[in-house]
Amino acid sequence: MLKGVLNYAHYLLEESIEKGEKVIDATCGNGNDTLFLSNIVGEHGHVYAFDLQEQAIASTRKALISYQRTNVSLIHDSHAQIGDYIKKTEIGGAIFNLGYLPKSDKSIITKAESTVTAIDSILTLLKKGGLVVLVVYYGHKGGKDEKKSLLAYLLQLDQKEYNVLRYGFINQKNDPPFILAIEKKI
Ligand SMILES: C[S@@+](CC[C@H](N)C(=O)[O-])C[C@H]1O[C@@H](n2cnc3c(N)ncnc32)[C@H](O)[C@@H]1O
Repeated sequence: MLKGVLNYAHYLLEESIEKGEKVIDATCGNGNDTLFLSNIVGEHGHVYAFDLQEQAIASTRKALISYQRTNVSLIHDSHAQIGDYIKKTEIGGAIFNLGYLPKSDKSIITKAESTVTAIDSILTLLKKGGLVVLVVYYGHKGGKDEKKSLLAYLLQLDQKEYNVLRYGFINQKNDPPFILAIEKKI
């Protein structure tokens, strides 16, 4: 019955994003979420997919080619720079998959400062009723610092403007991932 965290993250986005909208994958990695978003928004929508690592951009490009997707812009840069790439454009939703790229250099991780800068930029562009969904992995070195700063930032968001949800399994061992979702109310 209860959805796992990745399934629940996708469910939330599927429920809130409409066909034809522009959306963001802030950490494209191997492209799984990028493909998912590309499918939801359809041929008239668009996905902006960011990653710091060339390896991640190459891997996502390969996935897009094999699935013949043309509605994605791949951006090899930090998501902290989102505001430089996307201006005056309404965004239907966004996903972050925090942590490191699986089977890759574990020292290249998402960090609270850039994650929060990116969330701030997206919230200014997000449609009313839109969601920013974060899948928080924090078992690795540096993960707990990011989790702590991120929660502190989200706790101070004004409840008149945003709903903030936390979803996860509290009886799992070894720092299980959880979801944070921010809904823009007005
Ligand atoms: C857990 S992986 C993402 C997995 C991906 N969503 C997928 O479906 O395969 C996290 C990714 O965040 C990237 N990353 C780390 N810091 C970043 C930043 N400041 N801006 C953009 N991407 C970043 C890493 O290079 C890594 O590929």
